[in-house]
Amino acid sequence: MLGATGSIGASALDVIARHPERFTASVLSANARVEDLIALCRRHRPAHAVIVQPERYADLRDGLAAAGLPTRAHAGPEALAALAAGPDCDTVIAAIVGAAGMASTLAAARAGKRLLLANKESVVLAGDLLMSAVREHAAELIPIDSEHNAIFQCLHGQAADLGRVRRLILTASGGPFLNRGRAELAHATAAQACNHPNWKMGRKISVDSATLMNKGLEVIEAHWLFGMPAERIDVLVHPQSIVHSMVEHADGSVLAQMGRPDMRTTLACGLAWPERVDSGVAAPDLGAIGALSFQPPDRATFACLDLAYAALAAGGTAGATLNAANEVAVAAFLEGRIGFLDIPAVIADTLDAADHQPAGDLDVLLAADAAARAHAAARLSRQAGAMA
Ligand SMILES: NC(=O)c1ccc[n+]([C@@H]2O[C@H](COP(=O)([O-])OP(=O)(O)OC[C@H]3O[C@@H](n4cnc5c(N)ncnc54)[C@H](OP(=O)(O)O)[C@@H]3O)[C@@H](O)[C@H]2O)c1
Repeated sequence: MLGATGSIGASALDVIARHPERFTASVLSANARVEDLIALCRRHRPAHAVIVQPERYADLRDGLAAAGLPTRAHAGPEALAALAAGPDCDTVIAAIVGAAGMASTLAAARAGKRLLLANKESVVLAGDLLMSAVREHAAELIPIDSEHNAIFQCLHGQAADLGRVRRLILTASGGPFLNRGRAELAHATAAQACNHPNWKMGRKISVDSATLMNKGLEVIEAHWLFGMPAERIDVLVHPQSIVHSMVEHADGSVLAQMGRPDMRTTLACGLAWPERVDSGVAAPDLGAIGALSFQPPDRATFACLDLAYAALAAGGTAGATLNAANEVAVAAFLEGRIGFLDIPAVIADTLDAADHQPAGDLDVLLAADAAARAHAAARLSRQAGAMA
């Protein structure tokens, strides 16, 4: 469980704990929140726990010992990648937030694991490389993002046949700022952006939902996961978040997957697939919900969606550039250093300035990621200087 202390981590561990005869959480990881990690170790008694920040290692080791747990303590990203690829697990749940999840996700794919992929940023950064690793090492990738998991279910776990499948339709809740105009968004705060109407998620993905960048990242993710060209991936706003996505077939049939907005459903699907187990989530009560509505996204106000399509069209390292610029801009917004509408502006500027290269190997992608972070950070400090 990579990212055990996060929102997806909590949902995954809830499902795992419901089926002790079937699942054991053998490796748990966190970035820095060592007390939360030790609390999870008390509850789930894994064989290994990893804290990525090395300076927290002693706290983890001593905390586990003080709790009388047999769990072995590890530190650093290399230990994380080694455990994800090692013999202590056959399934890896990749739920680290951001490009930081890339190395361990790739390590799990290269070790041929069942990979439950929530860390969408690694697909946006290195989709070609990751999917090649999945194919070459016969890993089994099951998408955990609810939209892609819905498509996976509608396709019965098979690859999309471009002759039979006409379009993928990703649904978007619209986030907390649905139907708002630019004037209102100019003063949106981090607390408002993180106050999602349907989903309880980590702060970074909550802001991505509010800007519609989350949907943009998901368009790129769908392109790589299902081999679908960008022009055959559409987005439809569906404020109730009951239909998680749809697959339109050549004969006009549209298959949809429905469920409550609770990630335990997709995690249970991924853990048990092709079987089905209890996730702790009831089915949606459609009679009580009454109506499901759909509308096109407001692409002019929420410019991040088209920036993602543009990065997909540019290809190569453009996805890495888009993702890195977004991570820098969202972090600055969460810290109150820039406004909500500055997020797409920083990303557009970084994409314009970048020299997109073919995404040949991980070094090229990581160089594009670093260059984009540097460019976006420099732009933010110029902006801060101008405002001072
Ligand atoms: N939440 C959802 O409902 C949802 C839905 C679909 C997809 N996703 C995707 O799932 C991923 C996780 O989202 P989340 O909402 O669960 O995030 P979150 O609540 O912020 O949790 C992030 C997890 O990653 C760890 N982490 C952060 N930075 C790290 C680093 N540099 N190295 C290693 N570990 C690091 C955190 O550890 P600490 O606790 O120590 O900081 C935490 O365990 C994201 O890619 C997101 O887009 C989430």
